[in-house]
Amino acid sequence: MPSHMENTVKEVDNYAIVASFYDYLMRHVNYRRWYRFVADVLKRNHVPDTTLLEFACGTGNMLLYFAKAGWSVVGVDKSQAMLDVARWKLSEYQSSAQLYNGDMREERIYGEFAAVICLYDSINYCLDEQELQRTVLNMLNNLISGGVLIFDICTVNNCSNNFRNYTEKEFFGNKDYTRKAFFDVTTNQQVNEFWITSIPQNEIVFHEMHVQQIYRIDRVKEMIEEIGSCRIDGIFENYTRRPGLEKSDRVHFVITKL
Ligand SMILES: C[S@@+](CC[C@H](N)C(=O)[O-])C[C@H]1O[C@@H](n2cnc3c(N)ncnc32)[C@H](O)[C@@H]1O
Repeated sequence: MPSHMENTVKEVDNYAIVASFYDYLMRHVNYRRWYRFVADVLKRNHVPDTTLLEFACGTGNMLLYFAKAGWSVVGVDKSQAMLDVARWKLSEYQSSAQLYNGDMREERIYGEFAAVICLYDSINYCLDEQELQRTVLNMLNNLISGGVLIFDICTVNNCSNNFRNYTEKEFFGNKDYTRKAFFDVTTNQQVNEFWITSIPQNEIVFHEMHVQQIYRIDRVKEMIEEIGSCRIDGIFENYTRRPGLEKSDRVHFVITKL
């Protein structure tokens, strides 16, 4: 815990408090460019219709672009606080958008979709290979035949270079937060901790501990191939059509359900 924070520390679920400043935390992310990449990949892969399910949809940034483009969208997230922000944003554009509080690792059919997406390192919250494989299978089970799944993974390279031992202190709205990131090169585990206080009622320090597992691209590829009934159409580097490699920061898997 940062030394200046000697107040009562309250452990809270991931994103319970971060949700209130998540979009600020993500202000460097070009969601528009990302949406264009995803929409372009879906078009090139001839998705059969315009129904889209996003797992780990967070505050709905990507759903919002698809909803504005006329897609019928459904979002799932484990954090109710993140969904509350998403609901507020989406209500302005698409009253039919549905949001569910759910765990992507658990087998559940939300419908039959032409596209399923899961972005921004969300799948790295699967902490072992079995969880990851089960999650990809769940995602595929929500697709119609010919439907396309796009998810990304954060690479070991990104964590080692940028999040091995990193601290930031920021202030946003009425929140003061410290974020510490550690990457363990022996276990490939990425830990991000947040200590958050509200101003002026700063007697409680909220603590969130985010743990993610970072996987090698080839291993993820093997796990997808083991599932069967699907075809990997591409592994791309960070919103481009360049090949996704270990030296990339993030790679996108594009998979068609057979
Ligand atoms: C880094 S955020 C990404 C949010 C959004 N995809 C974006 O691009 O901004 C990770 C999200 O994954 C969600 N999440 C983590 N584990 C999850 C799980 N097992 N099932 C569903 N959502 C999960 C978190 O609640 C959070 O909203």
